[in-house]
Amino acid sequence: MLVLGIETTCDETAVAVVESGKKILSNVVVTQTDLHAAYGGVFPELACRRHFDVLIPLTERALQEAGVTSSQIDLISVAKGPGLIGALFLGVETAKALALAWKKPFVGVSHIEAHLYAAMMGCDQPRFPALGVVISGGHTLLVKIQGMGEYESIGQTVDDAVGEAFDKVGVMLGLPYPAGPEVEKLAAQGDPRRYCFKPGVVKNNPWSFSFSGLKTNVLYTLKGQNSDKTAPVVLQEEEKPHIAAAFQETALQEIVRKALAAVDHFGCRMIFLGGGVTQNQRLRELFKTSPVPVYWPLPGLSLDNGAMIAGLGYQVFLKKSSQGDAFDLQPLPRIPLSK
Ligand code: KG4
Ligand code: ZN
Repeated sequence: MLVLGIETTCDETAVAVVESGKKILSNVVVTQTDLHAAYGGVFPELACRRHFDVLIPLTERALQEAGVTSSQIDLISVAKGPGLIGALFLGVETAKALALAWKKPFVGVSHIEAHLYAAMMGCDQPRFPALGVVISGGHTLLVKIQGMGEYESIGQTVDDAVGEAFDKVGVMLGLPYPAGPEVEKLAAQGDPRRYCFKPGVVKNNPWSFSFSGLKTNVLYTLKGQNSDKTAPVVLQEEEKPHIAAAFQETALQEIVRKALAAVDHFGCRMIFLGGGVTQNQRLRELFKTSPVPVYWPLPGLSLDNGAMIAGLGYQVFLKKSSQGDAFDLQPLPRIPLSK
């Protein structure tokens, strides 16, 4: 069964063709980082306009690279949320239009669930319950996976997502947006023990995360106590790698510590990780202490992509007894991951 997957939740336009949930025939992505760099974050209207410009040509390219025609596509899968509402509308309405024109069914899937599916694609025999860890620019959450499509939220961030914290700390350090990979590079030259930063504590929920205090720790260390974002950096340039290393170590240790505690507490038999921050090599090193097998997104599927949307769409379609969604499907800026 051939599925066309469409992803437009944020600042990547992506289309892929995937066979039977696993075999990736094409996976094309147009990233918008150049467009948003000047703003230090995603500018929603610009994101929509770029999706509008590239989505149809990208769909043609995905079909061409897969070596198939539209008549061979059996299902269209689209990310219906969470994400920027205008961007989501564009993706969902395009999926409906293609479904109508090609006379094929379509399904809307959760972007967060798709990030986890990007790791499940590499696992032939998933064992449940498993722990899902989604760490990206927009999300930081722990979920108990009871079975394919059955989730129970354990904890999430109460302020910044971890990728967002990497991006903002990167900007403070004078690194280009999106700064996650740049912070990692700088941290590799630093000593994480030179500065002592503390992760945030969330009252009444041991499984939740808070990264805004850690971000402020970095700000005050770089620019002086009680300074604001616009203040000049007072610390010497050669201290920056140590700050990056201490920030990275504190943020990542916090994720690994809570994830492994959750594995123990909830009796999880595997860990599936998804989202852009899974590209971080130090994180991968830290997870080597896991007592259960750890699955990472397949190569090329850490950041937002259409293959994870197509792959998950196949599973969702099978679960719905091969029924597509109705044409009144609405995109949702927030979707809870629940049973
Ligand atoms: O999954 P993704 O493409 O977008 C969302 O769904 O949010 O993740 C992008 C995020 C950005 O915040 C980026 O800075 C972060 O992933 N990221 C990293 C690394 N590579 C990407 N963070 C830390 N270390 C990295 N190597
Ligand atoms: Zn994402």
